[in-house]
Amino acid sequence: MAKILVTGGLGFIGSHTVVELINSGYEPIIVDDLSNSDPKILDQLAKIIGYKPPFYKLDLCDEQGVAELAKKEADVAGIIHFAAFKAVGESVQHPIKYYRNNFYSLINMLNGYNGKPVNFVFSSSCTVYGQPDKLPVTEDAPVKPAESPYGNTKQIAEEILIDMQKAGSSYKVISLRYFNPVGAHGTALIGELPNGVPQNLVPFITQTAIGKREKITVFGDDYNTPDGSCIRDYIHVVDLAKAHVAALKLMETEEFKGYDMFNIGTGTGSSVLQVIKAFEQSTGEKLNYQIGPRREGDVEQVWGDVTKSKNVLKWQTELDLDVMMQSAWEWEKYIAQNPL
Ligand code: WQD
Repeated sequence: MAKILVTGGLGFIGSHTVVELINSGYEPIIVDDLSNSDPKILDQLAKIIGYKPPFYKLDLCDEQGVAELAKKEADVAGIIHFAAFKAVGESVQHPIKYYRNNFYSLINMLNGYNGKPVNFVFSSSCTVYGQPDKLPVTEDAPVKPAESPYGNTKQIAEEILIDMQKAGSSYKVISLRYFNPVGAHGTALIGELPNGVPQNLVPFITQTAIGKREKITVFGDDYNTPDGSCIRDYIHVVDLAKAHVAALKLMETEEFKGYDMFNIGTGTGSSVLQVIKAFEQSTGEKLNYQIGPRREGDVEQVWGDVTKSKNVLKWQTELDLDVMMQSAWEWEKYIAQNPL
């Protein structure tokens, strides 16, 4: 079976991708520094896939450590690179921490396997678009000045990968520009594990519903949108995970050359108030929410044009907002009963 290194493989998206890799006959090898994940996720994965995948605890900023990994696991067919710090607000407070970690880890990985025919999938983000001029946003839309150091690390990382390709590289590379990943695995055994107070909408919703948070604040209802609240393209994390398998498969074909990038979303926008309503209707839980001031740095509305992903990546989403909300809720109830 083709070995795939999954950096950040114990994280929210990484762990779901490990499951889909196995479902598609790959052999995932997890690398994670545990800075934003829990080693108990390995046990949770074993409950789903029947065994614990090989796991290396490694900070990818450790150049020597990565070189040793590349020697030990020399015959990988692919790398899916999730490992990065990703909290937008924190990146504004601690930019150097973000630039150091996100670039050192990427460059060490690229150096580690340089010269080897590796299929490299990069975890990028719709953040690179900022507030698009035209919606839905297509992959050839102009990349806007980043709204945060986190977003800047994604933009510059894409440029690093493109420049590497132009210089002639043994890698094939696909960047996946995620929209908003939400939800949890259908078994409710893995899901999102926010550190401390959740920054993102859906974990805040489920923590409010379970009683961990007193209420949720809608950050502004005075935007130029139908109900006044911000619009995003929410995508089920399992659909997102499957996009990584599709990217590997595309790079395994003869016709794929060099570098490409794809929007990974549903192609539909949902407002904050619509998500709250979908949560209440799909779970039967009443949410205590209030309208508050806008959050600094939020874009008003963004959702993806996913035509290219459908036609070229041969991938599209299958799970709707109700399933996203139900699975997120089942996971919240699971971890309330079974703290990791
Ligand atoms: C969604 C909407 C908030 C919390 C960020 C990153 C992006 C990606 C996903 C990493 C916004 C509103 C939120 C709350 C609210 N991260 N909201 N009350 O900001 O679109 O994207 O996370 O890759 O790169 O930028 O996601 O979930 O934080 O916010 O009203 O308590 O929900 O204002 O409109 P965002 P989010």
